[in-house]
Amino acid sequence: MVGVNNDNSGDMGMLYYVVLWSIICYFWWKWRAGETLSTLTLEGNYVFITGCDSGFGKLAARTLDAKGFRVIAACMTEKGAEELKAGASEKLQTVLLNVTDTENVKSVAEKVKKEVGEKGLWGLINNAGIMGPSAPTDWLNIEHYRAPIEVNLLGLINVTLNFLPLDMKPFGIKVCCIEPGLFKTALSDRARVMKEKKAIWNTLSPDIQRQYGENYLKDDAVKKEQLVKLCENTDLSLVVNCIEHALRSKYPQTRYSAGMDAKFLWLPLSIMPTFVQDYVLMKNKVKLLYPNAS
Ligand SMILES: *[C@@H]1O[C@H](CO)[C@@H](O)[C@H](O)[C@H]1NC(C)=O
Ligand SMILES: *[C@@H]1O[C@H](CO)[C@@H](O)[C@H](O)[C@H]1NC(C)=O
Repeated sequence: MVGVNNDNSGDMGMLYYVVLWSIICYFWWKWRAGETLSTLTLEGNYVFITGCDSGFGKLAARTLDAKGFRVIAACMTEKGAEELKAGASEKLQTVLLNVTDTENVKSVAEKVKKEVGEKGLWGLINNAGIMGPSAPTDWLNIEHYRAPIEVNLLGLINVTLNFLPLDMKPFGIKVCCIEPGLFKTALSDRARVMKEKKAIWNTLSPDIQRQYGENYLKDDAVKKEQLVKLCENTDLSLVVNCIEHALRSKYPQTRYSAGMDAKFLWLPLSIMPTFVQDYVLMKNKVKLLYPNAS
C-alpha cells in the first residue's frame, strides 16, 4: 500500500469479507461432499476389489456387499475366499487372483467381463498390496525391493489396464487415491515384520552386525512399539468409509486420508522439505553402536 493510512477500517472490512467467504466455501464444500447417489441407483452395481483375503479388502467386500453392491472379490488364497464367502450374502462372488501373474490377471478380467456384461463395472478397487522388509538400506539387496514393486506397482497397473475396458463405459471415470496411516492389519503385523528383520540380520556380515551392535534389534523393536502406540489405528472402517464415499459420492475426492496419524503426521510430513522429514524420521532411529567402524 502506498502512503500512510491510519484508518484501518477498510482493511478490516476486507478481512471480514474474506473470512465470511471462506466460511461459506467451507460449508458449500461440506455439503457438496455429502451429495451421494441414491442407494436405489447403486444397488446391483458391480465392484471388483483386489486383496480381499484380509484387512481393508475383506472389510470393504463385506461392507459393500451388505450395502447392496454386487461385489466380485479377488483373493490370493482359497482359504481367504472361503472365509470371506462365509460372512457375506449370496451375491458376493470370489475369484482367485495373483496380481503379479499376467495370465491370471487376463483370465480373471475375462471372467469378470462375462459376469458384468452390458452393465459394466461401477468400481475397481486396487487394494492388494504387500509390505517389503523394513530394515536399514545396507541390509537389503535388490530382491527385497522387487516384490513390493511387482505387487504394489506393476500388479496394480496390470490389473488397471486389463479392467479399464470394463469401466470405460459410463466415461468420466474418477480416480481416487486413499492414503491410510498405520492400521492394524496383516500387512503391518509387528511379529512378522520383526521376524523378517531378524532373518535378514542373520545373513549380515559380522562387520555390519558389529557396527549396528547386538542390541540393535531389541532397541529398534522398542522404538517401533512406541511408534505403534502413538499411531496405530484399529478401526479399519475408517478406510472402508473412504472407499464407500469414493463409490457413492457425486463428487468423490481426489485424495482421501484415513487415520489421525495420516492426517496430522504422515501427509503433512510428506510435503515438508526433506531436511524436516529427515529430522523427524531420524528421531525414531536407534543409534548405531559403532557408526564409523568398517
Ligand atoms: C503386465 O502385463 C504385461 C503384458 O500385458 C507383461 O509383459 C508384464 O510382465 C506384466 N507385469 C506384471 C508385473 O505382471
Ligand atoms: C504369483 O505369480 C508369480 C508370477 O507368476 C509367481 O512367481 C508367484 O510365485 C505367485 N505367487 C503365489 C503366492 O502363487
